[in-house]
Amino acid sequence: MTTHYEIVPEIACTRTGKQYRQGAEALRDINFTVYKGEILSILGPSGCGKSTLLKMIAGLTSVTSGEITVNGMTPVNARELVSFIFQDATLLPWRTVKRNIDLGLELEGATRERRDGKTEEMLALVGLSDVAGRYPRELSGGMKMRVSIARALATRPRILLMDEPFAALDEMTRNRMNDELLRLQKQHGWTIVFVTHSVAEAVFLSSRILVLAPNPGRVLEMVNVELDRSNLAEVRSSDAFEQEVSRVSRILRGAHLA
Ligand SMILES: Nc1ncnc2c1ncn2[C@@H]1O[C@H](COP(=O)(O)OP(=O)(O)OP(=O)(O)O)[C@@H](O)[C@H]1O
Ligand SMILES: [Mg+2]
Repeated sequence: MTTHYEIVPEIACTRTGKQYRQGAEALRDINFTVYKGEILSILGPSGCGKSTLLKMIAGLTSVTSGEITVNGMTPVNARELVSFIFQDATLLPWRTVKRNIDLGLELEGATRERRDGKTEEMLALVGLSDVAGRYPRELSGGMKMRVSIARALATRPRILLMDEPFAALDEMTRNRMNDELLRLQKQHGWTIVFVTHSVAEAVFLSSRILVLAPNPGRVLEMVNVELDRSNLAEVRSSDAFEQEVSRVSRILRGAHLA
């Protein structure tokens, strides 16, 4: 019912651990697989290693024990497949909205024409066509986040790693972005790993939720989300949604106590 993704492994963590050179053990013995075309969310208390895990998958920080493969490659070799949307949207202050979105394409060496077309498409997608010429300092937090999402999508990644991308948004806007993300994901078949502190957001978006416990960060449970998403507009007000949110909340409380 809810499994519209293929059962092909895209990201695999095997006994993965992270020990920062200065600091405590951030993650220990993490085992899970993310399948192609799946949205998997990660929930867990602050400091349990969610961002660290995403950075390792992205090849931005080393894996210090065990292994991670992305499409059968090391994270560093798979970088081209992956786009990372950070917890704190980092836009270049001296570039306009349009030219910030342009950045990834510019680094890829795309032609001016392709960049312009793609940038306009992305601006429309995140509803920012009207502010294309503004600078980041003239935008709200939510708008900045939408620019960084547009920038990440412009390079046509097939794997998206999203670290609390909608945390700065008000609830209405966040819901709209969630709807939009699901729609786009379906259309493009992206594989998404989505970190959030919102149980409702994780339940709404994902087929499975990885719940981590802290000190050191480890897997508490992999939760299958049972939800019929055939009519998106009705999902949030359904009994099934409410039940899944309470069930996952209970599991997450366990992580805070662990
Ligand atoms: N560069 C670093 N050097 C040393 N320790 C680090 C580094 N980055 C993170 N840590 C530590 O690793 C642990 C996990 O941090 P991480 O940022 O991955 O947690 P998180 O689950 O994303 O937290 P939050 O929900 O607050 O974003 C924390 O104890 C943190 O202090
Ligand atoms: Mg984090």
